[in-house]
Amino acid sequence: MMKRNIAVIFGGDSPEHEVSVDSGHAISANMDKKLFNPLPLYVDRRGRWFLTDRFSFVKEKKICKKGEVFLRPNRGLLLKSGVKIRPLKIYKAFPIIHGQSGEDGRLQGSLEIGRVPYVGSGVFSSALCMNKIAAKIYAGKLDIPLLPHVIVRRGEKVPRPSFKYPVFVKPVSLGSSIGVFRADSYGELVRSVNKCLKFEGEIMIEKGVDKAREIVCGILERNGRLASSPCGMIVPRRKFYDYKAKYLDDKGFHLFIPARIEPKVSESIREMSGNLFKAVSAKGLARVDFLMDKKDWRKFYFCEINTLPGFTSHSLYPAVWERAGISMKNLITILLEGD
Ligand SMILES: Nc1ncnc2c1ncn2[C@@H]1O[C@H](COP(=O)(O)OP(=O)(O)O)[C@@H](O)[C@H]1O
Ligand SMILES: [Mg+2]
Repeated sequence: MMKRNIAVIFGGDSPEHEVSVDSGHAISANMDKKLFNPLPLYVDRRGRWFLTDRFSFVKEKKICKKGEVFLRPNRGLLLKSGVKIRPLKIYKAFPIIHGQSGEDGRLQGSLEIGRVPYVGSGVFSSALCMNKIAAKIYAGKLDIPLLPHVIVRRGEKVPRPSFKYPVFVKPVSLGSSIGVFRADSYGELVRSVNKCLKFEGEIMIEKGVDKAREIVCGILERNGRLASSPCGMIVPRRKFYDYKAKYLDDKGFHLFIPARIEPKVSESIREMSGNLFKAVSAKGLARVDFLMDKKDWRKFYFCEINTLPGFTSHSLYPAVWERAGISMKNLITILLEGD
């Protein structure tokens, strides 16, 4: 059988650039080479696309550019190297750009315009899940427990929330804990809101779960059917699971797979995650995150749904599937062979 070319699209203009480079690398490296031929497409911070050297990229500096890639409306991808321009024949794209422009439907929309088939959620579902308020509305319709929140927009007075402190202040559609602050008093809240509004014009003040444990569940579409992974549990060792804990500090958190929670709770989280995946019309893969009360492990709340979860060799999504007996290699094959 002919090997099928897969464009792994990684990098991008979000603060999660480096994470995406690692995800792109892990996906290319772990792809089943008997079936597929990975073509790494690096998107630089200015948004330009380049075909790179197969496995030599590790960090941005070392990315070797073999030519610039363009998208033609209705006609796929073109590679321009020197003065030569030729079509880049691919079977499917695997976009793995985390954060705004890669995960909110814009990249998916570009691929649709080029008629390039791709892994993961479409335009609508990506945009919906990127918006934390919209995702909560969908989760609420399914009776998934939610924390109350209020929305604040630039120029508005900071309201005194009707719920108790601590509260969390967070942008509506960023990721990686960027612009997320905990506040324990109204004074702190006002300062946090002002800082957060620098990142985005619409933010939310959410009731906080003190010293929350985070429960994550991976969803995978396999032959048109949904599978829920075992739950993973993150116990942050910092004040919360902030950017530093996520990416900079190896000892920033403890990870338990399976999560140390009652089987009944874990079952309902897995079921709710699958139901939400369907309700938001997600495709292929997603990771659904919940916050759990430190004192009462039966109390948990929906936090967010990520349609392009981290895919590095130490990311949560591949880890929960590994535990279910699906290696990264199999995981990638399942995603590439799905429709
Ligand atoms: N309501 C909350 N209570 C407690 N911790 C929270 C709350 N909201 C967010 N956090 C903490 O902030 C982190 C980032 O928030 P999250 O909503 O997951 O945004 P992001 O998209 O940036 O990951 C979470 O992983 C969690 O540690
Ligand atoms: Mg999160």
